[in-house]
Amino acid sequence: MFTFYLIILYILFVVASSLDNGLAITPPMGWISWLKFGCNTDCEAYPDNCISDKLFRKMADIMSSEGYLDAGYQYLIIDDCWMAEYRDNKDQLQPDPKRFPNGMKDLADYIHSKGLKFGIYEAIGNYTCSGYPGITLENLEKDAKTFAEWDIDYIKVDGCYANKKNYKKTYTDFGKFLNNTGKPIVYSCSYPYYLEKAEQRVDYSYITNICNLWRNWNDIEDSYSSMINIINWYSMHQERILSYSGFGSWNDPDMLIIGNDDLSVKQSQTQMAFWAMLSAPLIMSADLRTIRPEFKEILLNEDAIAINQDMLGYSGFLMKSILGVDIWVKPLAVIVNDFPTFAVLFYNKNFIGNVFTVSLLDVGAYIIHSYTAYDVFEKSNNQLVLPNENFTFSFTSEMMLYKFIPNGD
Ligand SMILES: *[C@@H]1O[C@H](CO)[C@@H](O)[C@H](O)[C@H]1NC(C)=O
Ligand SMILES: *[C@@H]1O[C@H](CO)[C@@H](O)[C@H](O)[C@H]1NC(C)=O
Ligand SMILES: *[C@@H]1O[C@H](CO)[C@@H](O)[C@H](O)[C@H]1NC(C)=O
Repeated sequence: MFTFYLIILYILFVVASSLDNGLAITPPMGWISWLKFGCNTDCEAYPDNCISDKLFRKMADIMSSEGYLDAGYQYLIIDDCWMAEYRDNKDQLQPDPKRFPNGMKDLADYIHSKGLKFGIYEAIGNYTCSGYPGITLENLEKDAKTFAEWDIDYIKVDGCYANKKNYKKTYTDFGKFLNNTGKPIVYSCSYPYYLEKAEQRVDYSYITNICNLWRNWNDIEDSYSSMINIINWYSMHQERILSYSGFGSWNDPDMLIIGNDDLSVKQSQTQMAFWAMLSAPLIMSADLRTIRPEFKEILLNEDAIAINQDMLGYSGFLMKSILGVDIWVKPLAVIVNDFPTFAVLFYNKNFIGNVFTVSLLDVGAYIIHSYTAYDVFEKSNNQLVLPNENFTFSFTSEMMLYKFIPNGD
């Protein structure tokens, strides 16, 4: 009997099928090198900041000892530029021998010894996006075996220097070869991004069966406008895209840029909140050696992570815009006293202080029970919401994320 609210929501949420490798049951969480360290291969000039064995061992140490792993961030992922310029004389992929002198298996063992999982990057074309050897058509099977031998747990496969017409077949085949190795490997596919950019049709229901996660839109940059453009793209395409989120298959709006140069504390909360609502992979890319504590606190926010990792696996949806305020709703798995819990994100595009009143009917929630709205980032802001009453709150900032939990009788 509980509501209207569920009825509206379930129209939007379809149960997506997913890749059957038992992985990424909730959105993957981890750290990747790209946004902060890019393709810095000059270890002579930048010994502490180049893409090297040393850098990843250091990040592994920090992830495991400074609370990130405990919070759920378990994948440590090497992005582009780890390779040598050429394959070896048996035509095998190889890491750059100077920067990875111990080889990849040794690094994998180290990362595993820290309780973490090991991720790597390649591209399904003639070259990676930075121009290193790619997984070419004739090497699909061989390279899948190489990665399994290196004991990787996650692979991000980009789509540079490849023929778009072949994507469906090449990504499918590479996934089969990964599966054939017997090693469980999370499979992250970038090809929807390339098709969306070329305004070609993307068959997401097919992709959910071959990939655990997939990039849909632009590479994120260290800028607030880049992040907001990505969010806007998802809201514009939400009916077409967001319902494909589910166990083992996730839309990927790209990395968390939190802890780098551009975002303020509040803007960082905004990214964390949207990534939680979108059930997006939470892949950090800041320098964990020097990150400021206020950013670390956002990355480790337990309530935001719990919303992101919720076991229903739905993405939130933009339900309504009222007076310049976007209201996003995400149903959560937990049922309390027979009533559903859910998360609501208010994003104030007016960017001025305001008092805003919202009827929960406006977000599709017909409340016949009392709830407490917990403010995920400002704990002092929790509010009691009574049945049939409007939820009024003042904006002190551009974004607020609440978790609505039914009260006891
Ligand atoms: C990749 O390389 C092959 C062999 O040299 C070539 O035939 C093909 O056109 C290249 N593909 C792209 C997309 O550049
Ligand atoms: C391979 O695919 C089968 C069938 O989809 C699945 O049951 C199995 O868990 C997969 N194995 C790996 C290692 O991904
Ligand atoms: C709640 O708000 C709606 C629209 O904002 C209004 O029509 C309604 O009368 C309000 N209800 C109460 C109980 O104040």
